[in-house]
Amino acid sequence: MIPSVLPTYSRAPLHFVKGEGSWLIEEDGRRFLDLGAGIAVNALGHAHPALVRALTDQAQKLWHVSNLYEIPQQQALADKLVAASFANTVFFTNSGTESCELAVKMARKYWYDKSQPEKTTIVAFEGSFHGRSSAGIAAAGSEKMTKGFGPLLPGFKHVPWGDHEALHAAIDDTVGAILIEPVQGEGGIRPLPDHCLKGLRALCDDKGILLILDEVQCGVARTGRLFAHEWAGVTPDIMMVAKGIGGGFPLGAVLATQEAASGMTAGTHGSTYGGNPLACAVGCAVMDIVTEPAFLEAVNARAGYLRQKLEGLVASHPDLFEGVRGLGLMLGLQCKIAPIDLVKAGYECGVITVPAADNVVRLLPPLTISEDEISEAVNRLDFAADAVREAMS
Ligand SMILES: Cc1ncc(COP(=O)(O)O)c(C=O)c1O
Repeated sequence: MIPSVLPTYSRAPLHFVKGEGSWLIEEDGRRFLDLGAGIAVNALGHAHPALVRALTDQAQKLWHVSNLYEIPQQQALADKLVAASFANTVFFTNSGTESCELAVKMARKYWYDKSQPEKTTIVAFEGSFHGRSSAGIAAAGSEKMTKGFGPLLPGFKHVPWGDHEALHAAIDDTVGAILIEPVQGEGGIRPLPDHCLKGLRALCDDKGILLILDEVQCGVARTGRLFAHEWAGVTPDIMMVAKGIGGGFPLGAVLATQEAASGMTAGTHGSTYGGNPLACAVGCAVMDIVTEPAFLEAVNARAGYLRQKLEGLVASHPDLFEGVRGLGLMLGLQCKIAPIDLVKAGYECGVITVPAADNVVRLLPPLTISEDEISEAVNRLDFAADAVREAMS
């Protein structure tokens, strides 16, 4: 019989009942160092006091009100995001894939209103991930996500990651936008080099098309800048955000320039829950913390420390690991073994990591993780690596 929860996930047999900072506590009392952070969601760790306060204060006043009315918490969060980024305007969603839906709609409406309705094509990249909605899977295009779900939303072209010639060849008169993750997450923690992002911006400017960045996983201070594209010194026209912005409360956003958003007038888009008072109260608390200059400095220091520790781990287990890649606290261990074997061995050693494509184990700890916790987590990964080797022999 089919389980009462639709069986779309392969779940590990772990039942977490509590979270404290960088730690997850299992029903049986075991404590795990959480280097997954709900796949880059718990950016400030578990039960951060400022987020608990923001959520409970708001919960005592008003949980939900329709977007038919003014929502001051939403206004406050939009103002913070606009002040801290390239954007002039923000629409709030509940998830990354909803942000993808709007980014696609916004780009198409832009060209429709410019009397160039043929510019519906969006160029996206192989190995990318933009969520599981119809637009999200069509944008990513991989067989793994799309097989059996056709007919797919038309209007996407896919080019291999890093293939400049294929990219240029793909730009014809029907292309209205390029969509890319500055650091591929699910694809295996593949950062786009700064010069490539600069080149993409220049290409978009040259062809007069829109640049859409998906910062759902790499945004909100994850890479050591508030948004990952800041490292390259260029800005997008439209950006998708989710995960870290809610610190664990479902919240997403699409940020855009006034020009790119010009087609999105009253009645063109909406959401029942998007930007609700609870989500935005938490989002404001997250933004207040991650925009403190000292916060980003600390993320960069922790990132350097974690990277150095991981390089040491790789050096100690050259038979299991190829190297470390990534940016900030979005790091990947390139494996010579199946990533899931290390992830499972990590469970036994009390450390949580996340597998990704391209033989990578992802490390996306809370941005607040301490150096002692990093040392302890890497010690546990060291034990996990020994266990994997033992199991293979
Ligand atoms: C880059 C990227 N875009 C979009 C999504 C989809 O986000 P959600 O699962 O919140 O719909 C994800 C989720 O992992 C992601 O990593």
